[in-house]
Amino acid sequence: MVVKKIPITLPFIDQSEVDAVSEVIRSGWLVQGPKTKQFEDLFREFTGSKYAVAVSSCTTGLHLCLEALSIVNTKVIVPAFTFVATANVVEYTNSQVVFCDIDLNTFNIEVNELRNILEKDKSIKAVIPVNLFGLCADLPEIVKIAKDYGIKVIEDCACSFGGYINDIHSGNFGDCGCFSFHPRKAITTGEGGMIVTNDREIYEILIRLRNHGAEVSDYHRHNNQYSFLLPEYNIRGYNYRMTDIQASIGISQLKKADYILKSRSQIVERYVNFFRNNFHKGRSLDSYFRLPLVPSGYRHGYQSFVVLFCMDESLFSSDIDIDAKLEIISRWNVKRNEIMYELEKLGVSTRQGTHSVHTLGYYKRKYGLRPQDFVNSYIADRLSISLPLFPQMTDDEFLFICDSLLKVIKVIV
Ligand SMILES: Cc1ncc(COP(=O)(O)O)c(C=O)c1O
Repeated sequence: MVVKKIPITLPFIDQSEVDAVSEVIRSGWLVQGPKTKQFEDLFREFTGSKYAVAVSSCTTGLHLCLEALSIVNTKVIVPAFTFVATANVVEYTNSQVVFCDIDLNTFNIEVNELRNILEKDKSIKAVIPVNLFGLCADLPEIVKIAKDYGIKVIEDCACSFGGYINDIHSGNFGDCGCFSFHPRKAITTGEGGMIVTNDREIYEILIRLRNHGAEVSDYHRHNNQYSFLLPEYNIRGYNYRMTDIQASIGISQLKKADYILKSRSQIVERYVNFFRNNFHKGRSLDSYFRLPLVPSGYRHGYQSFVVLFCMDESLFSSDIDIDAKLEIISRWNVKRNEIMYELEKLGVSTRQGTHSVHTLGYYKRKYGLRPQDFVNSYIADRLSISLPLFPQMTDDEFLFICDSLLKVIKVIV
């Protein structure tokens, strides 16, 4: 079997995106305009949200959400295991990041710890739960806690397109939610993001904030009387707009979204069967790798398929001391990296799930943090492996990934 290097992901692009982009380029209107509006309307329909605001990325969207809710010069809780952007946006708004550890079963924020943090520090004004890898955090509980402590909830839905709890799409639980259309996500616009909210007032602020603070959009002004007069600017805004070129790709992607999500979850099902039904030294592979847990009533969007590599169950117990835990983490981290290195040599791309932000130079130095301060996040950073996942994956590619993984495990473990 001859298989080229298998990427971690591949955007699901065909002629329809090429045609959509050509149409916009030929139209003469390239910036935020009718295509952006159409993309917003389709996205609202898909997520069941009242309002949608297209932006240049999830990061800029999260920044706008914080400003729209007046969460500035304060403190905001962020899970320690997330992409750095979730914490960076808090820093943009002159607030302090307060990290919270995660639940290793879901990779999402640990709600008991969230409550403890809020109980101890009443000056915190918001939480940004991350629906990591496509699985919603325990949002009903988070919203309940947020009400108890009078704080705002901004969902980081960068990865959670297609992620639901009881048929409610992610983004609809908090005050607002923000999606990413970076090519590593299930649907893409190159770069891009979308904020959803069910609150008219927040929506009205967001559409101004993304467009320099203007009271009227460029497209509206150009197509109405007095187009020669510039609008009023009552608030200080940004240029965080999406272009119609990007939006046209998004429209085309949304039309294929059901297929994309279905085929991603079918590949995950095949991975799960592979881990359960293949053995090494008399143990099935799912005892070497913890597979993602999907709580009852949840639908996983599977932006990524991330497993946790470790055979030492004591790592997950609270009975062993932290030094012993750190030693286990570093021992298995060496093996995790060897597995990824050998897979790379065979032509199978993998990645660590994401990083523990409290261990990154800027945050470590600024807040004086040690890895063990959020030990589950550190475990996830050091031991997670994300496997290739994209709808175009062929049977040959899937079998090659599984064969390679089995081969590598047999040599390394
Ligand atoms: C959890 C999380 N938040 C935020 C972002 C930032 O998204 P964007 O690249 O669209 O700004 C990402 C991107 O990977 C992410 O994974």
